[in-house]
Amino acid sequence: MQHLDPHLWPLTATATHNHLVLGGCDATELVREWGTPLYVLDETTLETTAARFVAALRAHYPAASTVHYASKALLNSAVAQLVTRGGLGLDCVSLGEVALARHIGLDLAQVHLHGNAKPRHELEQALAWGVGRIIVDSLDELRVLAELTRDRLAQGHQPQPILLRLNPGVDVHTHAHIQTGQLDSKFGLPLATGMARAAAELALQSPGLELVGLHAHLGSQIDEYAPLALGVQRLLAFAAELKQRFGWEAQELSPGGGLAVPYRSGEPVPEIDDYVQTLARTVLDECRQRGLALPRLVIEPGRSLIARAVVALYEVITVKTIPDVRTFVAVDGGMGDNIRPALYGARYSAVRADAIVSEATTTVTVAGRYCESGDVLLRDVALPPLEPGALLAIPMAGAYTLSMASTYNLVPRPALVGVRDGQARVLQRRETYADLLRRDILLPA
Ligand SMILES: Cc1ncc(COP(=O)(O)O)c(C=O)c1O
Repeated sequence: MQHLDPHLWPLTATATHNHLVLGGCDATELVREWGTPLYVLDETTLETTAARFVAALRAHYPAASTVHYASKALLNSAVAQLVTRGGLGLDCVSLGEVALARHIGLDLAQVHLHGNAKPRHELEQALAWGVGRIIVDSLDELRVLAELTRDRLAQGHQPQPILLRLNPGVDVHTHAHIQTGQLDSKFGLPLATGMARAAAELALQSPGLELVGLHAHLGSQIDEYAPLALGVQRLLAFAAELKQRFGWEAQELSPGGGLAVPYRSGEPVPEIDDYVQTLARTVLDECRQRGLALPRLVIEPGRSLIARAVVALYEVITVKTIPDVRTFVAVDGGMGDNIRPALYGARYSAVRADAIVSEATTTVTVAGRYCESGDVLLRDVALPPLEPGALLAIPMAGAYTLSMASTYNLVPRPALVGVRDGQARVLQRRETYADLLRRDILLPA
């Protein structure tokens, strides 16, 4: 029987009557109704994980704290509703993401706007919509914001609360594409070069801006706590310097997100509680030693909040054995719905969802349907024998998959179905061919 590693599968996943069952719904029946590729969100897992972050902060940090979902990991209206109904705020990184927050009726005070290159018109609109915090990433952005908010102040608006995103110069051992806290990074205001100090000074001199705090995000898929603690220490050392120089106190502090998840059995399984406790303790210790008031602690999990809640289902289209080389199992999705293997060499695992009691006796490479040789979802994985029509399930499919999906080869993007207590509902419908053609304008005959 194939193994459903409890660290990789949604909380409700079971093997029942030889089939994978998610949220009480048989995967083969979900596929019969909605087709493949199909992304299935276990609503219970998402809500439980969100609640774990909130509870851990309450348990380990005595002052105010907030969890903001880093919505870039997976965003559509229903996911944002599920997350924010649990009391979380939203981290957005474009006006499109903020527009979605408005669309679901979220109080935009609960929205933080990030981004290393926010266009001026997006900043103008974010100010007009009343986004709660803008996380400033560069001196140029700060100058634009200072100018825009000066004019708004003259019209009677309140100063805009901002945080400075700092580059603390901390390396984390993760894939180079998802490291962000080292000095050689496009993100943040480096502490080491004096740019952060210049930004703080300018922010404090700008009457339309209210500098409420400091932020850093070191990268993603981080499974060691020491660099995260070091990042917090550097933020608070800088806060202490600003207090001494300008008498300014940080009201808020955000160490970003970045907690790793396991994608395959045997990979480290960082615990949410340990992670939050490490961050909270570091803030408490540093503030005590430096004589700083405790700031509101804001954490921004993305991957670790959503990855495990989602399973991707694919139908096998063809099996091609090249003797003494490899067996390619090609499925009806691939880099269009999950680009992580092609982009970062990300590794996943899979089971045969329509014959879960079968033994994994063959080693195959699962390729996607897209016209790129690099479109390989799983390389050299052990699976039961597969034939066209077989159903494959990939767990840990929630983060940076659908949110990075493309319409390459004009393949419609998959549906996302939510499951709970034996009931399933479409949260985001499959793209149609009409959707794909909607933006095109035919030339006159
Ligand atoms: C500012 C910020 N916060 C939070 C996150 C979420 O990171 P993760 O999904 O690794 O938790 C990101 C991801 O890029 C980010 O840029």
